[in-house]
Amino acid sequence: MQGKIFFKYYKAEKKLGEGSFGKIYTAINIKTKELYAIKMERKEYGQGLLETEAHILSHLKGFGIPEMKTYGYNQNYNILVMELLGNSLEDYFQKMKKSFSIKTTCMLGLQMLDRIEWVHSKNLIHRDIKPDNFVMGRGDKNHIVYIIDFGLSKKYFSVSKNLHIKFTQNKKLTGTARYASINAIKGCEQSRRDDLEAIGYVLMYFLRGSLPWQGLKNKKGEDRYIKIYEKKKNTTPEELCKNFPEEFTEFIKYTRHIQFESKPDYDYLRGLLKHILNKYNECIDYYYDWDKEKPNIKENNIIYTNDYHIEYNGKNEWLKNKDEKFNKKMEKASNIYSKPKVSLNLTPSIIKNSKTITSISTNLQQVKTADNSNSGSRINETNYAQA
Ligand SMILES: Nc1ncnc2c1ncn2[C@@H]1O[C@H](COP(=O)(O)OP(=O)(O)O)[C@@H](O)[C@H]1O
Ligand SMILES: [Mg+2]
Repeated sequence: MQGKIFFKYYKAEKKLGEGSFGKIYTAINIKTKELYAIKMERKEYGQGLLETEAHILSHLKGFGIPEMKTYGYNQNYNILVMELLGNSLEDYFQKMKKSFSIKTTCMLGLQMLDRIEWVHSKNLIHRDIKPDNFVMGRGDKNHIVYIIDFGLSKKYFSVSKNLHIKFTQNKKLTGTARYASINAIKGCEQSRRDDLEAIGYVLMYFLRGSLPWQGLKNKKGEDRYIKIYEKKKNTTPEELCKNFPEEFTEFIKYTRHIQFESKPDYDYLRGLLKHILNKYNECIDYYYDWDKEKPNIKENNIIYTNDYHIEYNGKNEWLKNKDEKFNKKMEKASNIYSKPKVSLNLTPSIIKNSKTITSISTNLQQVKTADNSNSGSRINETNYAQA
């Protein structure tokens, strides 16, 4: 793949990553010399997941979302060209010998909450919150946390029907068991609350170095999920957050008790993290554990938490007339990623309390180009991380 040119100008260079259905490369625009990232999906395996991701990226366009340059296909691959970003939080976590300071964790957590609120405000849930799916920017944006990888995202609210998705059980787990909410592993349909509970576990992973349900022995597939479920359920927020500021305990407690259709209180969660920073006399200066020196940040590259406007009421044009097609693709996506069912027959509480959420229109560019690449990519069946 290296050296190949896509869409006339984008020359693939270094391999950045490899996922379930494709690969990611850096690419240089041979005309402008600007760098990009190219995500490729082999047509016969990908089932159009990448096209869905392209739709989502253009729908989510905004601060901390990788900008999509173009989407198209050639003979063998679907191809997405987007803004090149930096290391993932998992990369930095490994680099820092599996430990982040309270300050770094809070600064990351605040931005993760901002990003997920943005995604939720656009009627989507992410469903695969994990450190690999949050990536730092590059250059003068290297202090900004981006959210990536919308391959498992799902629309949780239909504006045209003014309806939240229904609560169901006995679902197969979508996402990554280690960070998944208790309800998600139990087999409940996911909603906004599950993304937030997962953020809580990611933050505790950063502070503690690992989570109590990692490395449970000798269980595969369904059995392993049941073990993880049991361990997670039996680990109280107090135990999980022992020796760390009590606000983290509150964070986990709150996220575990959000109702299925409720809009989470993002401000409350941000408030907890800000409270910790205050207590430790720290400010949000974007000076992370891995930085060698204090960053010099230009004013227009800082968007303080809560500064930007999230619109929950207004005109929604997104995917008008495309709802059906989109939902089918999403359904397909869920099936592809499905793993053995974990059905423990437990009943969570439900309250009906939905709110109209709006979004913007998309304009997905389709580019057709000839390329006779035959080089194969290794395809893994699932993207499930080992817990
Ligand atoms: N735009 C990007 N710039 C730089 N690295 C990226 C970019 N997108 C993805 N990556 C890297 O590639 C990895 C896999 O990409 P991702 O979109 O998460 O696909 P997958 O579905 O395979 O997990 C990410 O964890 C990240 O490290
Ligand atoms: Mg990923």
